[in-house]
Amino acid sequence: MSDIQIKNVVKEYSSTFTALRGVSIDVAEGEFVSLLGPSGCGKTTLLRSIAGLEDIHGGSISVKGKVLSEKGYTMPPERRNVGLIFQSYALWPHMTVFKNIAYGLKLHGWSKADIGPRVAEVLKVVGLEGLEERYPSQLSGGQMQRVAVARSLAAAPSVLLFDEPLSNLDAKLRESMRVELRRIQKEVGTTAVYVTHDQAEAMVISDRIVLMNQGEIVQQGTAKELYETPETMFAAKFLGFANMLAARVISTDAGSGLAQFELEGVSAPLITGRARKDVHVNDRVHLSLRPEAIRIGSTTDTSHGFPDRRATLPASVEDVIYAGNICDVFLNVSGLRLRAQVTPGDLEGLSVGDGVTAIFDSRSIWPVPADDATASVDAVGVRVDEDVPMAAVAG
Ligand SMILES: Nc1ncnc2c1ncn2[C@@H]1O[C@H](COP(=O)(O)OP(=O)(O)OP(=O)(O)O)[C@@H](O)[C@H]1O
Ligand SMILES: [Mg+2]
Repeated sequence: MSDIQIKNVVKEYSSTFTALRGVSIDVAEGEFVSLLGPSGCGKTTLLRSIAGLEDIHGGSISVKGKVLSEKGYTMPPERRNVGLIFQSYALWPHMTVFKNIAYGLKLHGWSKADIGPRVAEVLKVVGLEGLEERYPSQLSGGQMQRVAVARSLAAAPSVLLFDEPLSNLDAKLRESMRVELRRIQKEVGTTAVYVTHDQAEAMVISDRIVLMNQGEIVQQGTAKELYETPETMFAAKFLGFANMLAARVISTDAGSGLAQFELEGVSAPLITGRARKDVHVNDRVHLSLRPEAIRIGSTTDTSHGFPDRRATLPASVEDVIYAGNICDVFLNVSGLRLRAQVTPGDLEGLSVGDGVTAIFDSRSIWPVPADDATASVDAVGVRVDEDVPMAAVAG
C-alpha cells in the first residue's frame, strides 16, 4: 500500500483559477519523491494541501490509508503529524538550538526526561552535536537549515514535506546539502515529498520525480526515465539540455526497438534511433539527442546503416568552448546547430572550421511527438543562419 495517496486532487483559488487540475501521485513508504516544475505550476499548493494548510475542492489525500483531505473536509495540520521544512528556516531567534527543537516536543506532550535525549539524537542525525546552546544568529545558513530539519524530525513525523529548503544557501553548500538531506531521509526512513524547481536538485535528491506544469502532472518516473525517455517536449526541455531535431518517421522495427528517421531540412542520410509505441511511420517528431551522447570523429568515420546501433552525421565545427571538466563543441550539420559535450582531452586537434563526424549510439536518439501542445517554436528547426542564441535551440 502506498504511504501517501494523492487521488485526482483539484484545488481552486477562485472561480476562474484552478491551481491543481486532477493530480494523482502514490508515494511508497520510505520513498523520497520530488515535485519538480516551473514557477507557478502548483508545487507549493500541492505540498500545503498535503500538510493541511489548504482545502481541496476535489479528489482526496490519504496518509497511511486514512483520508486527511477531501472536498468539504480538511483535517487540521496539527493533527496530521507531518514535518514541514521551508526555505526560510523559521527558527525562533531568541531560543537556543536545544530550545528550538525542544519546544515542539513540549507542545506534543513529551516529558522533560525524554526531551533531552531526543534532541541529542536528532542533532546527531543532522550532524550538529554539541551546538545545543548556540543561538540561530550564531549559526551558518546550512547549520540553521539542519536545525530546522532536526526540529521537524524530532516528533517522528509520518511524512516529511520540504518546500525549496535549500534556496537560501549558496551554490556549493546547496550541492552538499542535497546529498546530506538524502542521507538523513534514508537514515530515518520517513516518507518525503520535496518541492523544487531545480532539475539537478530533483535528480540528485529523490527516488522519483513528479514533473508538473500548469497544475497537472506531465510525467513521473526516476531521474533516468525522465532524462532518457521524456514523453513530451516539455519534459525533454525541462531536464537538462537536449538537441531537438525535427524529423519524420520512415520505418519502425518492433523487434530491434529501433526506428529510422529523416531529418527535416537537412541533407543527411537517414538516422537510426529508438522506436516508441506511440510513434508511427510518417509521424512528425522531434529527436532528442543529449549533448554528452555525441562523440566527435573524423570525416572518415561513417555509419554502417540500419539496424546498426551507431549513427553518424557529417558536420563542421562552429565553436569550441573550454569550460573545465566538460567542454562544449557546437557543430553545424547542414545548417542545423548541434551542441556536443566532450572532455577537455577530446578537444585536442579540434579547430573551428574542421570537417568532422558527429557519432552517437542510436539508443541515444529518442523521438518526442511533434504535436505536443507544450512544444514551442523556439525549440526546433532553428537554422544557424538565423543566428539564434544557443539557449533558444532547446532547454
Ligand atoms: N493564496 C493564493 N491565492 C490565489 N492564487 C494563488 C495563491 N497561492 C498560489 N496561487 C497561485 O497558484 C498557482 C500555483 O502557485 P504555487 O505557489 O503552488 O506555485 P509553485 O509551483 O510553488 O511556484 P514557485 O516555484 O514559484 O514557488 C500560481 O499561479 C499562484 O499565483
Ligand atoms: Mg513554491
